[in-house]
Amino acid sequence: MKKLVVDLGDRSYPIFIKQGLLTDATEWSSYINLKDKAVIITNDTVEKWYLEKLTNTLKSLGLTVYSLVLPDGEKYKTLESFNKIMTFLLEKSCGRDTTLFALGGGVIGDLTGFAAASYQRGVNFVQVPTTLLSQVDSSVGGKTGVNHPLGKNMIGAFYQPKAVIIDLDCLKTLPARELAAGMGEVIKYGIIWSKEFFEYLEQHTAEIWKLDFDVLGQVIHTCCAIKAEVVHQDEREGGKRAILNLGHTFGHAIETFMGYGVWLHGEGVGAGMVMASKLALLRNKISSDEFARIIKLIELNKLPTKAPSNMTLADFEKIMLHDKKVKAGKVRFIIPDFLGMASLYDDVTEAEIAEAIKA
Ligand SMILES: NC(=O)c1ccc[n+]([C@@H]2O[C@H](COP(=O)([O-])OP(=O)(O)OC[C@H]3O[C@@H](n4cnc5c(N)ncnc54)[C@H](O)[C@@H]3O)[C@@H](O)[C@H]2O)c1
Repeated sequence: MKKLVVDLGDRSYPIFIKQGLLTDATEWSSYINLKDKAVIITNDTVEKWYLEKLTNTLKSLGLTVYSLVLPDGEKYKTLESFNKIMTFLLEKSCGRDTTLFALGGGVIGDLTGFAAASYQRGVNFVQVPTTLLSQVDSSVGGKTGVNHPLGKNMIGAFYQPKAVIIDLDCLKTLPARELAAGMGEVIKYGIIWSKEFFEYLEQHTAEIWKLDFDVLGQVIHTCCAIKAEVVHQDEREGGKRAILNLGHTFGHAIETFMGYGVWLHGEGVGAGMVMASKLALLRNKISSDEFARIIKLIELNKLPTKAPSNMTLADFEKIMLHDKKVKAGKVRFIIPDFLGMASLYDDVTEAEIAEAIKA
């Protein structure tokens, strides 16, 4: 088993990575102060595969286990679903000793984390991410929240889980499109943090897509270790953590333009990383060979590398001005400084943006 720790002082927590962790708690249960009740929040897709397994495992630890199954989809990452969770917890007379388990992808993780942050001013929660994207990104770092019709992830809290339990076996049922979306975030870590990891991905794409669990375990461990380090340095995104948003300013604009759920988050990030890398190319921070390698790796992982054809510069600008990353009217972009490092820039010109979205 691979284990690492997100080091945040008294809010530190472990991440466990292995096949079979949903059905076997021996290696992780003692790290979580489990008492009284466990409430599993999941959706009606993940339920079919994994709810019974996790329920039985938690029952075997002597807990009273309840589960709430929400409809599947980004469009349910709302205050209405949040309210459903609140009502459910109250109906089940859950007290402050209750632990919430987020069993699902990033939607369930973000929603459950926000519910845990709010219910009775904060109860424990555990992330059990079941998509590649949530295993390498959203389950680690404590960003929780819901969407608002006027903006994605606009309501939420920083609230850390007590543990992250990554059962690699969950990837066996994940649709290929979702695996690709997760690979968008995986590639991101190579570009912003480690050229060596980028090259490892170039060399191991075939094994990843064959679900070679030795390779996947290594990939997920590397991503979580990078994210843990970034979050350790800057938990509340005062500076460094912003680099995790490589491709996200463009990507969110595409997601919003198309309507939530039409493009997956990771797909927007895929095309967005090409645009951000084009900015780096225009500024001579990466070579045209490196730019081509970035596009190739994104393509190899079955992700889009271009914006939707009907989306104009004006569409991008209008949506990007509402982005959380806007400060003093300036849209801020993460741009690679070289392959393996990135920084935040707020001086990108309209002409550069126009070139980037043509990329
Ligand atoms: N909190 C953060 O730091 C952070 C970071 C990145 C993304 N996010 C958020 O994460 C969300 C995207 O997460 P996601 O890509 O996991 O999407 P998701 O949660 O919608 O899951 C994708 C789909 O896969 C299904 N699924 C999940 N696990 C499965 C499995 N093992 N087998 C079969 N199907 C499975 C889900 O039911 C869903 O249909 C977005 O809301 C995004 O804003 C948050």
